[in-house]
Amino acid sequence: MIEKITVPEIVKMKQRGEKITCLTAYDYSFARILDEAGIDILLVGDSLGCVVQGRENTLPVTLDDMIYHTRAVVRGRKRALVVADMPFLSYQVSKEQAVQNAGRLLQEARAEAVKLEGGVAMRDTIMKMTEVGIPVMGHVGLTPQSIHRFGGYKIQGKGKIQREAVWRDALAVEEGGSFAVVLEGMPKDLAAEITGRLSIPTIGIGAGAQCDGQVLVIHDMLGLFQDFTPKFVKRYADLKGVITTAVKDFAREVREQKFPGEEHSFK
Ligand code: KIV
Repeated sequence: MIEKITVPEIVKMKQRGEKITCLTAYDYSFARILDEAGIDILLVGDSLGCVVQGRENTLPVTLDDMIYHTRAVVRGRKRALVVADMPFLSYQVSKEQAVQNAGRLLQEARAEAVKLEGGVAMRDTIMKMTEVGIPVMGHVGLTPQSIHRFGGYKIQGKGKIQREAVWRDALAVEEGGSFAVVLEGMPKDLAAEITGRLSIPTIGIGAGAQCDGQVLVIHDMLGLFQDFTPKFVKRYADLKGVITTAVKDFAREVREQKFPGEEHSFK
C-alpha cells in the first residue's frame, strides 16, 4: 500500500484505473480508524453542520469550525489525503477572500487541499487558488450550499437544460485547475459521461458506480445519523443500535451496582 496519499497520487489513481475511496471525518478518533482502514481521502465536510452540530443545513458552518475539525482530523491521519471543505461565503465574495481563507485551512489546520462548491461561477477562483499552490477539489451537481436556490436537496441534471448546466460546471472546474471533482446527486449516465470525458478524477455521491471514486458521510454509512437517509446512502453498520445497547447496559449495571466491579477498582 502507498505510504502517503498525495494530490498527484489521487490523479494517478484515475490513470491507473484504481477506484478512490473517500469518507468524511470530523475528529481525531474517526480519522485514525478510517486512515488505518486504508481510506484514501478524509474529507472534513461542512456536513459536520448537520451530523455534528445538529443544524438544519450546512449554511451556518464557519471557517473557524472547519479549522477546528480539520486540525483534529490531521492529528489522526498518517496516510490519507486530508481535504477540508470551504464553508458558505468563505470563497464566493472574491478570489482574494478565497485564497486567504483556503490559505488558513492549509496553514493553520494543515489540510492538504480544499473543496468548494460551484462550477462556471468558480472557474477563475479555482484558477487563482491553484496558481498560488492551493490544490482544489471541485463539487458540482447537487451542491448543498445552494439548497435554497434548488428549493431542497433535489437531484440535478435531469432535463436537457439542467444536464447541459451540470456539464458546463464539470468542464469549468477542470479548466480552472481542480485536481478532482465531487459529482453529487445526478443521474448515473450523466456522471458516467462526465467521468469518461474529464482527465481529473470524479468522486461520486448519489451519482452511480461509474465515477472514479465514491464518498459517503461517515455518520450516514455507519447508521449514527438517522434524522434522514438519502436513497444513495448504504448503511454498512448500525452504530446507533450498538451504542444504544452499550449505553443501556452501562445504565442498568450502575443502577444495579454491578459496575464498577472489583477489576475496575483500586485497592
Ligand atoms: O460536506 C460533505 O460532507 C460533502 C460530501 C457529502 C461530498 O461535501
